[in-house]
Amino acid sequence: MQLNYLVQNLETRSLNTWMIKKKSNIHLISIAPMMGWSTGAMEEVMRVVSPNATFFSQMFHINAIINRPQFISEQYSPNTVIQIGGCCPDTIQRACRTIKAMGFSHVNMNFGCPSPKVQKGGFGAYLMKEKILAKQCIESMLAVFEPHQVSVKCRIGVDEYDSDAFLQDFIQQFDEIGIQQFIIHARIAKLTKFNPKQNRNIPPLNYPRVYRMINAFPDISFIVNGGIKTIDDATSILSHADGIMIGRLCYEDLYQYHLLYASVYQQAPLTREALIHKLKPSVKHYLYINSIYKGVKYASQWKRLLREKHTLSELTKFTKERTDRDSIYV
Ligand SMILES: Cc1cc2nc3c(=O)[nH]c(=O)nc-3n(C[C@H](O)[C@H](O)[C@H](O)COP(=O)(O)O)c2cc1C
Repeated sequence: MQLNYLVQNLETRSLNTWMIKKKSNIHLISIAPMMGWSTGAMEEVMRVVSPNATFFSQMFHINAIINRPQFISEQYSPNTVIQIGGCCPDTIQRACRTIKAMGFSHVNMNFGCPSPKVQKGGFGAYLMKEKILAKQCIESMLAVFEPHQVSVKCRIGVDEYDSDAFLQDFIQQFDEIGIQQFIIHARIAKLTKFNPKQNRNIPPLNYPRVYRMINAFPDISFIVNGGIKTIDDATSILSHADGIMIGRLCYEDLYQYHLLYASVYQQAPLTREALIHKLKPSVKHYLYINSIYKGVKYASQWKRLLREKHTLSELTKFTKERTDRDSIYV
């Protein structure tokens, strides 16, 4: 029933929105950019666990992109959306040319990071306060990429700028220059009050504000981010939005993420063992599959195998010993 609801909602979106969605290559699920997590090895895991999801790289500062492009080109597949951070339009343009030359076709600007270092650099969530500069940054991306290849990730507000009017105005300026895809973390960023971890947890989620933006900009594709953990969360948000973006669930409970993914894409979920068999993990993947047995009795045994860097054949022996009955998610 939940799925019918979702499909009905998608069918009732206007043809116009559908065409834009196709142009923008929107997928129902995106995997959030997460510093320290969203690496090429994570991408390899996530392409097995959720083949149709869009994978975002962790944020790269524009100088790092220009100075060490091979660090990016060597680890990600060309389907990855490369997230950038920075506030100098000329350097952003150079970084985008580098990204394009490496064969990537989608870039995302980070207007959501609240870290003190990023604030000091004058980018991330701080840039939501500097509307004119924020627009210049996106224009410099558009000098290199087509509008449908550029997306914006932002918060619903920042510090004292906590209103629908502020967010609408922020989106409007990018709408005017052709940006078609927004990813909105449905929490305000309190830059001086909270540290980055607190800024991901303490400000309350405000999905209705994002839904009001969806109504205000019917031709823009909106991806909702923040706090999505269950199939019910996903179904409820997808009855309003074009897509969802999922972050911490991917490393906190990888199998729950897979079940959510399979439900949204109306596919039969694979067992944990089938996923591991498909991936054929090597040590570089272990961090990302650590939580796959979360909630079942083998979790600590599995984590020990990974911690001790056991080989693939030992992992396979472990998974072979699990019966299908054992591996049902509880
Ligand atoms: C460890 C960690 C690192 C993050 N790094 C980034 C980043 O590089 N760029 C970004 O836009 N957001 C970053 N975020 C925020 C996530 O993309 C996402 O907006 C946030 O975690 C909320 O989604 P969730 O509740 O599904 O985790 C990070 C989050 C975490 C937990």
